[in-house]
This record gives sequence, C-alpha cells and structure tokens, in this order.
Amino acid sequence: MRLKIVVLAGDGIGPEVTREATSILRAVAEFGGHEFTFVPALLGGVAITAEGTPLPQATLDVALDSDAVLLGAVGDNKFNALSPDKRPEAGLLQIRQALGGFANLRPSVAYPALAENSPLRPEVTKGADILFVRELLGGLYFGAPRWWNRDTNEAINTMRYTKDEVVRVAKVAFELASKRKKKVTSVDKANVLEVSQLWRAVVTEVAKDYPEVTLEHQLVDSMAMHLMNTPRSFDVVLTENLFGDILSDESGVITGSLGMLPSATIGGKVNLYEPVHGSAPDIAGTGKANPLGAILTAAMVLRHSAGLEADAAAIEAAVAQVLEAGHRTADIARGSNQQVVTTEQMGKLVHEALAHALDR
Ligand code: NAD
Ligand code: IPM
Ligand code: MN
Repeated sequence: MRLKIVVLAGDGIGPEVTREATSILRAVAEFGGHEFTFVPALLGGVAITAEGTPLPQATLDVALDSDAVLLGAVGDNKFNALSPDKRPEAGLLQIRQALGGFANLRPSVAYPALAENSPLRPEVTKGADILFVRELLGGLYFGAPRWWNRDTNEAINTMRYTKDEVVRVAKVAFELASKRKKKVTSVDKANVLEVSQLWRAVVTEVAKDYPEVTLEHQLVDSMAMHLMNTPRSFDVVLTENLFGDILSDESGVITGSLGMLPSATIGGKVNLYEPVHGSAPDIAGTGKANPLGAILTAAMVLRHSAGLEADAAAIEAAVAQVLEAGHRTADIARGSNQQVVTTEQMGKLVHEALAHALDR
C-alpha cells in the first residue's frame, strides 16, 4: 500500500504531537511493507511567519495532490490582534473548505484505565463510546455576511445551512450509527433558531431511510448537561459546526483529557486528520503535550484513507495497553500517583507496544 501523507505540523504543540503520530505511521509502514511518504508543508502561524499568509498556495497544491492530510494544530497568541481572515485559524478553515470534507468524525471513548483521571465518577463514564459527527463546512464559520464595523460598533456573523448540506452530513451519521449502537442524537437549538428548525426537519426526513436507527433530538444547552450526566446513553451525536466544536471539547472530560481526542474529516476530495485540541500555547515546548490524540488520529488515517483496519485497531490497542500499564502524560495524571512521562516518552511507549503487537 502506497500513501502520500501531507503533514501540517502547525504551531505550538502541533509539531510535538505530530512527530509522535508520524513515527507510529512509519512503524506501521515498516512492519506491513507499505510505502508511506510524508510531505511536510506550512499552515497557520508558521506559514504567516515564513510566507506572510496562513495557507500558502504551495501547501494547498501539495495537499490536494495527496492521499491524506495530517494536521497538528494552528494558533499562536502573537497573532491575536489580527482580524479573523488573517489569523492562523483562517488557514485551517480555508484548507478544510478546499479539501471539501464536510463530516468531521470525533470519537470520544472512555478508556477503562483512565476512569480515575476524569473528574466524572467512574460509574458515570464506564463504557462511554460516543462518535460526534460535526458538520464542518457550514454554519457560522462560513456564512455571509460577516464583518465588524469599528465605527458603528456593530458586528455580524451568519448561521446558514441548506437542505443539501444537512442531508449529506446526516447520511454519514446514520450510516455510521447503523454499524454501531444504532442511535443518532441530533443536537440543535430548534426552540430559537430557524436554521435549527430546518436542521431538525431534514434530519427527521433522512432518518426515514434508516428504520433500524433510533433518532432523538436534543437542544444544545441541555445536551451539554446530559453529556456529562449520562455519557453512556449516547452513540452517534450529529450536530452543526459550532455546536459540534463546543460539545466535542466538552467530551474531553469523559475521556480524561482534551489531549486524548482524535478526528477525521471525510466526504471531500482528500480526507483531513487532526486531533481535536489546539496549539496549547500554555504548555508548548515543555514536553507536557499528550500525543495520544494525535496518535489515535494516525489510526484514523489508516482506517479511513488506507483501509488498514487491523493496523488502526492495533494502534488503538497499543494506546490502551500503555494506559493500562499506568503511563501518563501530565494532563491525564490528575489525582493519581502515576509517574508522568513526556510527549516523546509517551510516543516511544506506544511505539514499543505496537512493535510488539505487529511482530507477533
Ligand atoms: P487548546 O486545545 O489549545 O488548549 C486548551 C487546554 O487544553 C490548555 O490548557 C492546553 O494546555 C490543554 N491541552 C490541549 N491539548 C493538549 C494536549 N495534547 N496535551 C495536554 N494538554 C492539552 O485550546 P485553546 O487554549 O483555547 O486555544 C489555543 C490555540 O489553539 C488558539 O489559537 C486556538 O485558535 C487554537 N486551536 C487550534 C485548533 C486546531 O488547529 N485544530 C483547535 C483548537 C484550538
Ligand atoms: C477545532 C478548532 C477550530 C474550529 C478552530 C481553530 C478554527 O477549534 O478544530 O476544533 O473551531 O473548528
Ligand atoms: Mn475546537
């Protein structure tokens, strides 16, 4: 199997976690006799510094010509004063749009070994296994008009969805649910927003093609609470762009850390893979970053862009095994007396566990 993977390490802890993720992919290639090539390119703050733009044309060209794009994170406090269209984050939104993936899959799994690391009680999180399907190309992020008039002190963003945009992402959610616990929870704000009323009507219509899947609707405010109270009651959670952004970060609490969460964006020309977390400027350069979200993202590359399901599962098993053995980065060591390892050490531990498994 040949795979050309464009690596956009980005800013802050992006390069630190991406290094560990690519090293795991290299191991899989070596053991399986695959030819994976990794092509580094600039995105975000590093691209602004080097090229004066968050998404250089060369990055876009190479990404569109690849089999998969693996991203670390973008964002740097030194660009906070720039307008949204010039910031590092703009580069990310532009490349998402260009690659075309509209369904962002964000699994949130409660690893048994981390039960004591979540502020939620173990009996609440035990067995929780949620798949967020976040719509990624619509809503407030891309709706026009958008502006800030500094003279009149008025600003506007537009939440907009078309029926087709809702249909295509809803289908992905129902397809995935039909292979899981057969439940879709669609999250909206239909008590207030017209966009959400459209969303709810369209999702209800799509559900008719999937009689084996149960559909429930939740309003986003109470959903934020249900997610913490009864995380095990959810299977697939389908929602629009901003609500999905917020709820998926919240679900980091179920797992024990935001640093544990991976994602894959499918449905476009080239799939995009990125951990859910950001560039974490507060811990960048300290060796404290948890690389497991990025490593689990690498597993998703194998699953969704290479059809290497067994290898993807082997990475996930290696992560679980390392956690079972008690190894912890600082973010998941809370409330425990486990020895804390660095980003690089955690990557090595997963690498060793994986090598052992693949060698067998
Ligand atoms: P963040 O996700 O970077 O960090 C939130 C908190 O979680 C911080 O305390 C951080 O230290 C911690 N954290 C995050 N990832 C971690 C990891 N792997 N290991 C250990 N701890 C981890 O969110 P933020 O602080 O709100 O944003 C920082 C910057 O990142 C901003 O510029 C934001 O726009 C950007 N951002 C980028 C992406 C992306 O590139 N996909 C995603 C989210 C935020
Ligand atoms: C994420 C991030 C991005 C988003 C930002 C950095 C544009 O928060 O991937 O979750 O809001 O989609
Ligand atoms: Mn986010």
